[in-house]
Amino acid sequence: GLPSNVYLKEVGPRDGLQNEKQWISTDDKVVWINMLSKTGVSEIEYSSFVHPKMIPALKDAREVGKRIIRKSGVAYSALVPNMKGLEYALEAGIDGASVFMSASETHNRKNINKSISETYPVLTEVIKEAKNAGKIVTGYVSTVFDCPYEGRISVDDVLGVCGQLIDSGVDYLSLGDTIGTAVPTQVENLLEGLFPYFPKDKLILHFHDTRGMAIANIMTALHMGITRFDSTVGGLGGCPYAPGAAGNVATNDVLYLLNGLGIETGINEKRIQEASIYIQNKLGKTLPSRSVAYLKNA
Ligand code: HMG
Ligand code: MG
Repeated sequence: GLPSNVYLKEVGPRDGLQNEKQWISTDDKVVWINMLSKTGVSEIEYSSFVHPKMIPALKDAREVGKRIIRKSGVAYSALVPNMKGLEYALEAGIDGASVFMSASETHNRKNINKSISETYPVLTEVIKEAKNAGKIVTGYVSTVFDCPYEGRISVDDVLGVCGQLIDSGVDYLSLGDTIGTAVPTQVENLLEGLFPYFPKDKLILHFHDTRGMAIANIMTALHMGITRFDSTVGGLGGCPYAPGAAGNVATNDVLYLLNGLGIETGINEKRIQEASIYIQNKLGKTLPSRSVAYLKNA
């Protein structure tokens, strides 16, 4: 059967904006995140405490974190690559720290400038200190299906990275279809490989919708008992260090699916549409979500 409730994490302000050429001012980001806070979403990933030269679109993370209005019942998290990032994030205010690495050696190197084995000690320290500070920690694993440089990634490689992150103390694992290539049988195969080792309720699925497969993949994951997903309003997003990565699955589209299936999220669809239109106007381009286009033309 299908779950009765799903937890959605809105990653628009982070994954959604990180690849946009159009600068969104700190003022506009704050207004937008405050709008997102009122949608009923469970969690918002509001920025990244990474090197500003790597992700210039989010160089104002500290300012954003200090200025957003925190709504009770909403968890505010951010991407944290190392101890310096954690220090800034704790100062700016986070409920959750998201560490990240890749199951593919080449993508890991391009994205965070380290081999996989060099990454573990860095993340282990960050996870330990974030837990000591009372934060929820999520470990993102990128390229769990395919890598833009190495092609198909094996379930064993993904298991290895997931095991290390769990041993280091992460509360959740977020499995990233970074370039949006997976089809439902790949999702089934990966989840079947992970289920003997990791409880379902610790697994989050993070789909990019490059080829329009994300909704089919989410449906498969729902049938297998997964209840946590990442998405972005309007389908914004992409990883600048993964050529070919398009936007995340749109929150609007996931919500349309979940509402239709009778699955509870606590999210108000109209407010999601308003937040989509707001950022669409600021970016000056039409976002990929079919549901936003439908609303505009209705
Ligand atoms: P590095 O150059 O190896 O870092 O970068 P370093 O430790 O050697 O330090 C070099 C300089 O950077 C030093 O400054 C540090 O202080 C500074 P200097 O002494 O030379 O003046 N520095 C920092 N400054 C600000 N904030 C920091 C920070 N750390 C060091 N946190 C690093 C390593 C990880 C920092 C870099 O490679 C980086 O920032 N990478 C981030 C890339 C990124 O954000 N990618 C996109 C997010 S991941 C993603 O989108 C995938 C996901 O969505 C899931 C999926 O879809 O698969 C999560
Ligand atoms: Mg992503």
